[in-house]
Amino acid sequence: MQEIRLTDRISYIPACEKPLSSDVGIVRGDHFTYIFDVGSTPQTLEYLQGLHGLCDIVISHFHGDHTWWLTSHKKGDEGVEETDEISLNYERPAFHRLYIGSYTKKYIADGEVISAPTIISNRSGMNSSADERIISAGSLDIYDGVKISVIPVPNSHSKGALMMMVDDEYVFMGDATYCTAKGGVQVYNAQLLEEEIRLLKAIPAGTCLISHDRRFARDKRVVLRQLEAVYAKRHSDSPYIEV
Ligand SMILES: [Fe+2]
Repeated sequence: MQEIRLTDRISYIPACEKPLSSDVGIVRGDHFTYIFDVGSTPQTLEYLQGLHGLCDIVISHFHGDHTWWLTSHKKGDEGVEETDEISLNYERPAFHRLYIGSYTKKYIADGEVISAPTIISNRSGMNSSADERIISAGSLDIYDGVKISVIPVPNSHSKGALMMMVDDEYVFMGDATYCTAKGGVQVYNAQLLEEEIRLLKAIPAGTCLISHDRRFARDKRVVLRQLEAVYAKRHSDSPYIEV
């Protein structure tokens, strides 16, 4: 399995197209591994099962290529090929905690829904026990030698999406920079795009990690420039921007 290292603590398993599978983000804390999206290939399943539950999982959004190994499948389901026996009979990877967005709850029965900005960070640091959480003003902090923030992200691609920021430097975004199809046309929602641009500007991270992108790690300024170029094409008489 190919795992690409970005820093001592941050790496990822790249996305692939057959089967369609998201990138799987991996952040190694002192006690736990933090996983962003679980992908849909046998290789990512094997990797997750090898963690033996010593991981927290954050899911970006409900699409199957990001959630496959946390949901159940049957013959005839979209994405289940004739020869795909693994998807029908696999042991779901164990986890310590699972964080999902509000809409993902419709697809994954368990997991903590994050609807306010949440910080999971440095779980071992500063006299904390291995699993201490500091909860304040709607946010949740966990310390584990690395700071992780789970942030709901307004976006055009899917409802109830989350992104995961690491040490205020890198932000795993899943598919949140992408558009959606509406009546066969690729569109952004102008209001959501404006909110997303504002949020991206407000967070400290300088590098966006974008799923399915041939260049996974992108300078946030470049991402913002692209999103702002789309936003500039909006018309006051339509809530959508065609691309
Ligand atoms: Fe998606």
